[in-house]
Amino acid sequence: MTDIFDFSPDSTRFAVMGNPVKHSKSPQIHDMFARQCGVSMDYQAIQVDSGGFEQAVSHFAAHGGGGLNITVPYKVEAWMLCQRSGNQCSERAGLAEAVNTLRFEKNGLIAGDNTDGTGMVTDIQQNIGCPLDGRSILVIGAGGAVRGILGPLVECNPSNITITNRTVSKATALAQRIGSGIESLSLDRCGDRSYDMVINGTAASLGQQLPNISPTCIAAHTNVYDMMYSQQPTVFMQWALSCGAASANDGLGMLVEQAAESFFIWHGIRPDTGPVLEALRKD
Ligand code: ATR
Repeated sequence: MTDIFDFSPDSTRFAVMGNPVKHSKSPQIHDMFARQCGVSMDYQAIQVDSGGFEQAVSHFAAHGGGGLNITVPYKVEAWMLCQRSGNQCSERAGLAEAVNTLRFEKNGLIAGDNTDGTGMVTDIQQNIGCPLDGRSILVIGAGGAVRGILGPLVECNPSNITITNRTVSKATALAQRIGSGIESLSLDRCGDRSYDMVINGTAASLGQQLPNISPTCIAAHTNVYDMMYSQQPTVFMQWALSCGAASANDGLGMLVEQAAESFFIWHGIRPDTGPVLEALRKD
């Protein structure tokens, strides 16, 4: 039965906020999900200037907004917003100290979540077909991108997770904060052994650079994943394949899967990500 005190119409406005967002694929992805699932909604990319994040969120919520995706550089500010009295923050977003999905509740409060790590794990396990259970994982990087994936990675029950970073103290601090037996090593020590899975979570690929790690961390059975994506295989993927890795994948599937998880949070429907990923690859 309809609640007679519920006068607010269903919200149909959604958006991604960040800076820059002009090249974001999220509007295209959510439009495809909406068409596939028969959901009527409008999804925009909104560029927010420094210092204007909270005001932009309040304005959007007050004007029929149902929810937001939050991207660089506002994921930590979004997390802080969700710490305010009455607002909510999921456990995985709390562990990441970063929020990429906001849902505006009818009582005016905000619920925050982080779907990045779940998106990556779904891409690796379901789309690429690499189970993570019982495997040894090397994660390179200790910035915001890596903070978002560690909780969901731990939940996959790998045999061990090692974090390495150019600034090793950041890797050590992050490993200690997350716990769960995660170890940290300097870049020059992580090649002392090979791993089943190597994940690049640094921003190095953005500048066509490689993190300075030894090829010995890659063996013939190693699957490599770069959280970045580009039209061509990233420099890290090319390097890993030249070192003899079994496979190398980029993060486009992670982008689609994290979007699917956000779509589920807002609409309660899980879209079929396969055709959407296929369409983006053809773009
Ligand atoms: P994000 O939020 O996208 O993770 P960030 O917090 O600036 O961005 O973190 C970027 C990560 O990429 C860091 O781990 C950074 O290493 P430092 O902590 O030593 O700065 C890493 N990074 C960026 N450029 C790199 C490069 N050329 N080689 C190795 N690591 C790099």
